[in-house]
Amino acid sequence: MSLYELQSVSKVFRKGGVDVRAVDGVDLTIEAGEFVALEGPSGSGKTTLLQLLGALDRPSAGHVFFEGRDLATLRDNDLADLRLNAFGFVFQQFNLIPTLTALENVELKLAPTSVERKDARQRSVALLGEVGLAERAHHLPAQLSGGEQQRVAIARAVVVEPRVILADEPTGNLDSKTGTDVIDLLAGLAARRGSTIIVATHDATLAARAPRRLGMRDGALLGEPVPA
Ligand SMILES: Nc1ncnc2c1ncn2[C@@H]1O[C@H](COP(=O)(O)OP(=O)(O)OP(=O)(O)O)[C@@H](O)[C@H]1O
Ligand SMILES: [Mg+2]
Repeated sequence: MSLYELQSVSKVFRKGGVDVRAVDGVDLTIEAGEFVALEGPSGSGKTTLLQLLGALDRPSAGHVFFEGRDLATLRDNDLADLRLNAFGFVFQQFNLIPTLTALENVELKLAPTSVERKDARQRSVALLGEVGLAERAHHLPAQLSGGEQQRVAIARAVVVEPRVILADEPTGNLDSKTGTDVIDLLAGLAARRGSTIIVATHDATLAARAPRRLGMRDGALLGEPVPA
């Protein structure tokens, strides 16, 4: 069984009386542990597809199977459980809570889970160390650089040990060197855990770091090179 199996998935938005096919007939299989880059120009449907993969939105047509289950058939509490435990989201805007320290931002992610407070602290401290921010744990977001803030956001996404990391333009607000470091950090974290990582980007240099690149145009996937 594949991690993801997408069958003829489409998402249509109605905008000013016109239908926009944000995702248009996508067929796709992703195996557990893959590192996939989703590339395409603005408006090609990358964010929409990521939201379908992360159960944040439902397709207008077609099926998204995750771990063999059609997401459309799941109850609300099963979907909530997946969003909390199976998927870790990283966005272009770091979305840290400005009044909480780096450590508290990470810990907070574990509050609605069954992880106990003491373990939550331990795990959060360890993870901040893993992303290179041990010395910055008690800083507020405003006291951190953009790259450091994104590292905190990555630690927050990973602290629940998600099976899939979904990152939407995670380097969009960073300079190119910091952006490359962030992609490599994400890839390393995922590889050590055996988790799957799917990164949307319009930056070909960053996409080139992924073993598998999926191009998108007008909501559709471009053909992939056949693996050797
Ligand atoms: N909630 C929405 N309502 C109406 N139209 C939408 C909505 N979300 C996305 N769209 C449209 O769907 C298309 C795909 O948008 P999407 O945000 O997925 O593209 P993207 O590849 O992520 O672009 P970018 O690189 O700018 O982030 C666009 O034409 C967009 O205007
Ligand atoms: Mg987008």
